[in-house]
Amino acid sequence: MTDMNMQEYIEQAEKDLLHTYNRYQIVLDRGEGVHLYDMNGKEYLDFVAGISVFALGYGNKEYNDTLKNQIDKVIHTSNYYYNVPAIEAARALKKYSGMDRVFFTNSGAEAIEGAIKTARKYGFLRDGKTDHQIIAMNHSFHGRTMGALSVTGNPHYRDAFEPGIGNIRFADYNDLESVKKQVNDKTIAILLETVQGEGGLTPASEEFMKGIRQICDEKDILMICDEIQCGMGRTGYPFAYMKYGVKPDVMTCAKALGCGVPIGAFCMTEKVGQASLVAGDHGTTYGGNPLCCAAAAKVLEIMERENIPAKAKEAGDYLWEKLDEVMNSYDCITEHRGRGLLQGLVFDKPVRDTINKALEKGLILINAGSNIIRFVPALIISKKDIDDMIVILKQAIEEA
Ligand SMILES: Cc1ncc(COP(=O)(O)O)c(C=O)c1O
Repeated sequence: MTDMNMQEYIEQAEKDLLHTYNRYQIVLDRGEGVHLYDMNGKEYLDFVAGISVFALGYGNKEYNDTLKNQIDKVIHTSNYYYNVPAIEAARALKKYSGMDRVFFTNSGAEAIEGAIKTARKYGFLRDGKTDHQIIAMNHSFHGRTMGALSVTGNPHYRDAFEPGIGNIRFADYNDLESVKKQVNDKTIAILLETVQGEGGLTPASEEFMKGIRQICDEKDILMICDEIQCGMGRTGYPFAYMKYGVKPDVMTCAKALGCGVPIGAFCMTEKVGQASLVAGDHGTTYGGNPLCCAAAAKVLEIMERENIPAKAKEAGDYLWEKLDEVMNSYDCITEHRGRGLLQGLVFDKPVRDTINKALEKGLILINAGSNIIRFVPALIISKKDIDDMIVILKQAIEEA
């Protein structure tokens, strides 16, 4: 196998892997800082970062050394015993998020599953009933497992897999009246991304966040914020909800929490922790294992020590300025949305050709939906990297 060239590897992959992704035609081999290299050694400036994952860039020595040391100690034990990395990661995540209780998962979708189970159990303990409803948002994205899919507000992802878990009602994002119309005595949770990612890089308005908090307080409903894509410093705050002075009852995170190892978490306030899941209600073999938790604890330590959210804010402001200029130069771009280093340009046509052109020129970009280019680089991206990206982006737009 080792003497296969890049094209042969791609053909092999298409024979062996289930075709669930329309992959771009490169085989990535290694990363350094904000650059990736394919197996031919070609360099790419990376504005995707594994889709909002590699917050610290590739090859951060302190992070890599932590993982190497942990591999030599122990990679996995079991949740029936304590391990120090999990205890330290939980303590750090609590401090960073302001939440009180943490459950570690293997992915974002699993964190959403845990949040849904938390809400249902909270309702069950409240009134003994099992017909509670969750309100989720149109155009949301929460993952591909059945529960997460059921609360994802895009029929395109759901249709072939119905029926979902049931008792989910959808409201319009940033439209408080539409949420109020769905609230009734059975409502147990309102779930929203603080900034919608896949659905179009739309931040929640202040009125919407505060309004939902108020509804939840008045009716003993859980406010669940999905921070899987927008959390961990990306919007200029440790977690995006902090901008609003609003605290959710339950929060999900993943992606940049592990910066490359599979870990997510659902977190909650002490009140919810005391009135929901208990021993035997939930579990996972790998979730919270020493290797992934050593990574998360180190990521949280670096994020706080180096004030990474402030860096993301500064780079995000610069990116905003530059992308605004791009938008104003091309009629095919209709809107510029987002917050911090989670931004998107909305085109009046599909963006795949533009992304392919950029790739040819050594720039990795990704879409959100079919007609938005999403910009989610590492949070350590520099102004020079942004300038370099803009040059290639303009060429790609012109050639596409
Ligand atoms: C907001 C949001 N929630 C949930 C998920 C699902 O996370 P995962 O792919 O780790 O299952 C994603 C993934 O893109 C996401 O962006």
